[in-house]
Amino acid sequence: MKILILDDAGAASARAAGLIADHVREKPETVLGLATGGTMEAVYAHLIALHRAGEVSFAGVSSFNLDEYVGLAGDHPCSYRRYMAEKLFDQIDMAPGAGHLPKGEAEDPEAEADAYEAKIVAAGDLDLQLLGLGQNGHIGFNEPTSSLSSLTRLKTLTRSTREANSRFFPAGEEPPRLAITMGIGTIMRAREVLLVATGEAKAEAVEQVVEGAVSARWPGSILQMHRKATLILDRAAACRLELTDYYMDVHPE
Ligand code: GLP
Repeated sequence: MKILILDDAGAASARAAGLIADHVREKPETVLGLATGGTMEAVYAHLIALHRAGEVSFAGVSSFNLDEYVGLAGDHPCSYRRYMAEKLFDQIDMAPGAGHLPKGEAEDPEAEADAYEAKIVAAGDLDLQLLGLGQNGHIGFNEPTSSLSSLTRLKTLTRSTREANSRFFPAGEEPPRLAITMGIGTIMRAREVLLVATGEAKAEAVEQVVEGAVSARWPGSILQMHRKATLILDRAAACRLELTDYYMDVHPE
């Protein structure tokens, strides 16, 4: 794993956006795996700025998001489809319909999960998968004890994840209990993976994922087995790492 430690969240998100833009410039038909959450808002803002400055075009890009809440229609203000439309798709030049998410309102969510997995396979799998990190180490919505070879499926969210994400829901409305998420096996098939974690609330998860054992207890730790994984951290998220001097020595920039 390549561990990059930046000074703060702003620098970390700018670096992540820069790496994504480099990738798209090199391969304009890139199949991106995209993520949601607070951390990604800043990454997408930087990508939009790069696009507006004429530095990158997404016209040939297609994308698959990691996950979606079960029961939320795409136009629900808290759905991830709406998040992606507002925070990225509608502000760049991606072709209409090129940004895929699981359908949260599908009548048969299990069949939808299978169909979504098949769509990713048909697209030739993901070139670059962007990931956030849950405080409990989840990637996508693969909560602790998720099979490390799982495919896209339904997952029951932990209480702590629902509490962490309730800040995106209006008062009195709670995040759904179920989500459709790409599996850990799906994510691991991506040819390259880029995880971004910032802030002290992620420090324990970062410690376990980077320097702990590979274990379904901390699902992100599977990235230790990926051939091309880059983790972009800020100092706060990296504050519990033991080998910081080494990481800074290898990648001082
Ligand atoms: C949600 C998403 C995850 C994301 C996580 C972290 O749970 N399903 O993919 O990694 O949020 O979010 P935040 O960046 O808001 O901490």
